[in-house]
Order: sequence, then C-alpha cells, then structure tokens
Amino acid sequence: MKRILSTTTIATSAILATLVGGSVVAATTVSQSSDEQALAPARTPASRSIEQKVDVLLAKMTTKEKLEQVQLLSDGQINDAEAKNGVGGVFSLTDPAQINHYQHVAVDDSRLHIPILFAYDTIHGYRTIFPVPLGTASSFDPDVAKSDATIGARESATVGLKQIYSPMVDVSHEPRWGRIVEGAGEDPYLGSVMGAARVKGAQGDSYSDRDKVVSSVKHYVAYGQPEGGRDYNTTDMSEARLRNMYLPPFKAAIDAGADTVMCSFNSLNGVPGCANKYTETQILKKQWGFDGFVESDYTAVSETRACPPRTPDEGPCGHGTAADGPQAGANALMAGTDSEMVSTNIRDYGQQLLQQHRITMSRLDDAVRRILRVKYRAGLFAHPYVNQAKATDPASFLTADDRKAARKAAGESMVLLKNSSSTLPLDKSKKTAVIGPLGDSKHDMLGPWWGRGQDSDAVSLYDGIKAVDPSATYTPGCTMSHAEPPEAATADDCSTTTGFADAVAAAQSADQIVLALGETREMSAEAEARSTIDLPGKQQELLDAVKQAVPDKPIAVVLFNGRPLTLSKVDETAPAILEAWFPGVEAGNAVADVVFGDVNPSGKLPVTFPRTLGQVPIYYNHEPTGRPCDATQKYNSRYRDLNSCDPLYEFGYGLSYTTFSVSDFSIDQSRIGPDGKVHATMTVTNTGSRAGTDVAQLYLHDPVASISQPVRRLRGFERVTLDPGQSRTIHFTVDRTDFGFYDNRGKFVVEPGTIELYAGDSSKASLRQTFTVTR
Ligand code: BGC
Repeated sequence: MKRILSTTTIATSAILATLVGGSVVAATTVSQSSDEQALAPARTPASRSIEQKVDVLLAKMTTKEKLEQVQLLSDGQINDAEAKNGVGGVFSLTDPAQINHYQHVAVDDSRLHIPILFAYDTIHGYRTIFPVPLGTASSFDPDVAKSDATIGARESATVGLKQIYSPMVDVSHEPRWGRIVEGAGEDPYLGSVMGAARVKGAQGDSYSDRDKVVSSVKHYVAYGQPEGGRDYNTTDMSEARLRNMYLPPFKAAIDAGADTVMCSFNSLNGVPGCANKYTETQILKKQWGFDGFVESDYTAVSETRACPPRTPDEGPCGHGTAADGPQAGANALMAGTDSEMVSTNIRDYGQQLLQQHRITMSRLDDAVRRILRVKYRAGLFAHPYVNQAKATDPASFLTADDRKAARKAAGESMVLLKNSSSTLPLDKSKKTAVIGPLGDSKHDMLGPWWGRGQDSDAVSLYDGIKAVDPSATYTPGCTMSHAEPPEAATADDCSTTTGFADAVAAAQSADQIVLALGETREMSAEAEARSTIDLPGKQQELLDAVKQAVPDKPIAVVLFNGRPLTLSKVDETAPAILEAWFPGVEAGNAVADVVFGDVNPSGKLPVTFPRTLGQVPIYYNHEPTGRPCDATQKYNSRYRDLNSCDPLYEFGYGLSYTTFSVSDFSIDQSRIGPDGKVHATMTVTNTGSRAGTDVAQLYLHDPVASISQPVRRLRGFERVTLDPGQSRTIHFTVDRTDFGFYDNRGKFVVEPGTIELYAGDSSKASLRQTFTVTR
C-alpha cells in the first residue's frame, strides 16, 4: 500500500525535507491555507478492493469471532485452541516453526481462515543490534534511524513477524525515567523526523513486501513525562503542551504510513491511555484520519480497574477508572482501543456488554474492520506463512553489510562532550590501557532491547581497541552486576575499591587510557527508573584514582549509558569524554573508530544533560518565566545552591576533532502574511584542520503570543560534511506550521507579530534574525 506524505502538517513537512537528502535541503516545505488544515486527515483514501474484502469477511463473522479478533496474546498464552478460535494477534513468538504452526492452525482450521498477525519488539534491531534510539537520535541523521528499521524489519520478517512495536516516539524531559533510552529525546521536531524515518525503513513503500513489517507507534500518549520519573506514573498537562510537545511525533509517524498505534499505560489528566476517547478517537482517528488499529499496551486495559480487582483472573489493577473487568473492557473499546494485549476483558465480557448495551456492535465492527484492514494491507491473506529454510539459515541475519551499517550508525551516534588539549584522537602507535567495569562487556553493549541479538555477537570496547592496538591491556578496576530488582538496590555495582590498585598500575604502564564507565544495560528501559543519575557506584573514584596517578597522560572517558547522567565531576576530572550510549553489536569497533580518529565524531545531544539531579526537569525548549533565571540575583527562577542557570551540556551540543563556524545568517523576508514563507540561509565553515561533519541548526522563538512560547524550538537541521577550509550554505524554509502553535482549546493558531530565528550548531545558537507576521 502506498502512502503519500502529507503536506499539511508540521512534523511531516520536516520529515519530507530532511529525508530527501542532498547538500542543500529546505528544512520545511509545507503550505497550509487554514488553521483547520493543521488537523486535517493526511492519509490516502483506503483501497476499495481491500475495503470490499473486509466487508465480506466481517459480514460472515459471528460475535464470538469478532471478539477473538480483537484479542492479542503473548507467546506464553497462545495455543492451538486459541489459534483455532481465531485470535487476532500474537507477540513475542519468534520461532519460525511455531509461527508457521499456529498460522496453519488459524488459516487451515479456523472457520474463517483469518491469519494471525505476529508481532515483536524490534526496537533497535532484531539480531543486528543498532545503537539505542537515544543514540541514533544523536546522529541527527534520519538515514541512521531508517537503516536500523530497514534491517530490523527484514530480519523480523524473515522469521515470520509482520508487525514491530516501534518506533517509540515519546518525547521526554525525564532522565530518571528508564525509557528515555527508547526514544529520540526531548524535542518533538527531532522526534518527528526520527520516528518517520523509522516507519519508512520498516514499512518501505508497502508493508506487504516480504521484507517489511507494519510499525506500531507508541506509547500513545504523553507516557514520557511520568511524575518523579517513575515508569507508568501519572502525567498531567495542558492541552497546548500535549499538542505542541507530545503529539507531533505520533502525527509524523502516522503520516509516514504507520498503520498501528499502541496506547499507553499512564493516565493523562486522570484518564488512562487505553481508555481515553479524546486522544484515541477524537484526535487520532477523527482529526488525523487514522484508519489502522490501536492495540493496548501489556495488560493496560486491566490496569484501569480499581484495586483490589473484583475479577482477579484478568491481570493487574490500578488506575481506578473501572470497577471491574467488564467495565474496563467497555471503557477501552468505546474509547477507541481496538485490540487488547494480554488481558482479555473485551473478549471475555464482550457478549455480556453487548447485551447490556454497554458497548455497541458498530464499535466492535469498527475495531475488527481496522484489524482486518491492516492484515490485508500486510499481505497476510496472500502470504500467511514464513519460509522456514530462509528463517533458519544463519546467512539471513547479521550479514557483513548489516554489521557495517550498525558500525556506521554507532560511529555517527557518539557525542564528544569534552576534548581539552586535543586529548582525542589517541595515537594508534602508542600503548593503550582499557580500564573500567564496562571495558570488556559484550552484554551491555547491546543495550536494553536486544531482540534476538546475542552477547557473543557483540564487539566489546577492549576487542575493538585491541584490533587497532594489539598491545592494549584491560583492567576492570571494579565490576558491575546485572541484577534486577529487588537485588538491584543493593547490588555490587562498582561498590568496592579493591581493584583500583591494578587499574592504577595498568594506567602507569600505558601511554594512554580509555576509561569505560557508565550504566549496565539492565539500568535502562522499562521499569528501570533511577533516583540518582550519577555514575553508579565508585566509578567517579576510579576515574579520580587513575587521574591522580597519571595526571599528564591522555585519559578518555567513554560512557555507555541510556539516559543523561550528571557528569559535573567527570567533566572536572577527565580531559576527554565521549558519550557512546549503548552502541549495539559493533560497539567496540565503532568506539575504536572514533577514539583513534578514523571517524570524526559528529553526534549532538538529543537531550539536555543537567549539572545536578535537582535541575530536572531541565530542557532547552522550556517556556520563559516572569523572572528568568539569573544566578547572581535573588528574586528569580534559580537555585540558591547553584551558581549557574545552565545545564552542563545543552541540547544540540557536541564537539568534533575539527572546528566549525556558522555565519552569514540571513532571511529573505522581513514581513509576511500568515500564509507566507521565509527562506533562511546560513553558512557553515570547517575552520579546523580535519574533515568533519557539523549539524546546522535553526531555532525559532515567538516572543509575544497569547500563550507563553518556548524560548527556543528546533525547526530545522542539516548535517554538513566539510573538508578543512570548506564552506557550505544551508537553506531552510519556515512557514505557519513553524511559527504557529496549538492553543489550550486544541486549535492551531498563527498570531501576528515578530518571530525570532536563531542559527548555530547547538541550542545556544546565537545568530539572530527577525521577521514580522502580519494579519
Ligand atoms: C511495553 C511495550 C512493549 C510491550 C510488548 C510493554 O510492557 O510497555 O513497549 O511493546 O510490553 O512487549
């Protein structure tokens, strides 16, 4: 099924422009003639032949068969009876023989022969594990996200999967939250570009292609801002914030063709994500014209029940917006949830709810219709089975080309945070000591969603360094556990200094030191909130000990982690810091590429790094206050115990082994009407002595508006690769979709007045131009 990208939405316009590539790219290319168009359905009309087939099939279905179709079971729940009854979907089953088996039962033995949709969490790779999505976002390169999704889709489809629970597009300002690692960070524009690129990679032009899968965009919506950073926790926000900050990446992913959406665990303004008629039906289906289906997150429907549950057999309880299972099922279905994952309320109580008129047949039909539509679009009726020979052939996975793509992605994802006295790159001819608890870990390199990746696939940092410097040594200094709760709270994560003497001795007998510090992969992703975001355990002391012993030797700290950390002390101690995130299967090689200078780092932070945890939430796109922060004065928005208003490293920040300047910022209009466009240009010059890549960034601010507007909003970016001395002029276009915003009634407004644009290569961009929007 082909989709035409919308030309009517903010996010899509960004993606259109950023995905077309080329050296001179307009960042926004939209035209929009009325406020209403910002909300208009952007999708192509449904295919008539598919709709007819769905109608025919739906007309034959009994109520029981419809209720089976809206059920989504896990690998542990599926059995022959479920398949024969006509279950709609199954997730986490990846054995091709079993997938074929259940598919045969469904297609051969069920009354209507409807195939099962098999799904999986291919988040940053199936077998070829790419950097975590927060890392990929640091590349500011949608092609990196796209290649991750393309390879992940091919490997997933090879074993018989036809849906992936990705992209995760939750904007987040919460580094304590473990799941910040799964998304693109704190910016809705960057998140939109990356989310859409992932959908394009996974689905291609048609997800019926045998190497493609349908994307499920998650977690709908506002899951990224849980109070206290604790997973699953409450979110409460204004309509304007929801629309301007959290919804755009979902809209972008859907405009890019994503045909499934996963509703979230959290409540938003008191309403659980999978029982929220406003977000699921009103916004997603009606305003955006989404005609695919919404599946619930894992037991999220049951979790809307009050505790203790009156019907304990359907999974957990909690939110208290439903008294019992029947009410939970009714609320979810009538809100717009089309498919229930793991818990079985809609299926089990559907007949009774219909009789009691608590759900309608038309709504049930609509849910089933959506699921069948996606199955037809996926080509499942034509090709329900997987080619087992191919699926079990090792040559189908983790090919040399796949590894190459993963290595390139990892290299582009790393962010050079500090490099005093050109400590990096290190000298290939000198002796390197690799030190630190993560220095020879394969396991952690894969990050928190490793799919079917295996630890043995991964290249550890030490392996990668040794491939360049065979004389390299490895000394852990301390170790990290891979404990899960409850042991995690008291686990031995670099808790003793007994190995420090060996680490110091190794540093003394080497010429240069790579210190591998950070978090284990268990510390990130679902249910892995942290109450501090310092380096765990005594890792800072390990760095201090090494630095004290060899103060004049080059020391590069390489960080593996899934969230922003508080690095003030590391920044004071280490001459060089490279943020490598969890780089994936080619981790060690990719880090070696960067630390020895074969790859010049080009990543930029997709999320703010605070100085201390107390600054959280701290993000570049915040609203102004009546008393902006001034660390030297009293009555303003500051901390009395911090002499700075800034984070340690800002959004969009990242160094290179060369230097760049951004200059000659100009715009072609000083006054435009509300439908006008402004073309902006800036010149990026490589002012250093090595070839390198910078990311030109364009920010916007509306200084006078009916609703206080963020001090900066990213509205365009472009990677620019330049030889020493070379310059290039980059072009951007802004229009109403950029300077307009949603108000608190959910209306997209463009207000007259001055608009400021800023150009540079981080969110501190200082070149400024202004234009006026007239009535
Ligand atoms: C997660 C989802 C995931 C689902 C299925 C849930 O716990 O929140 O992101 O897709 O499980 O594995």
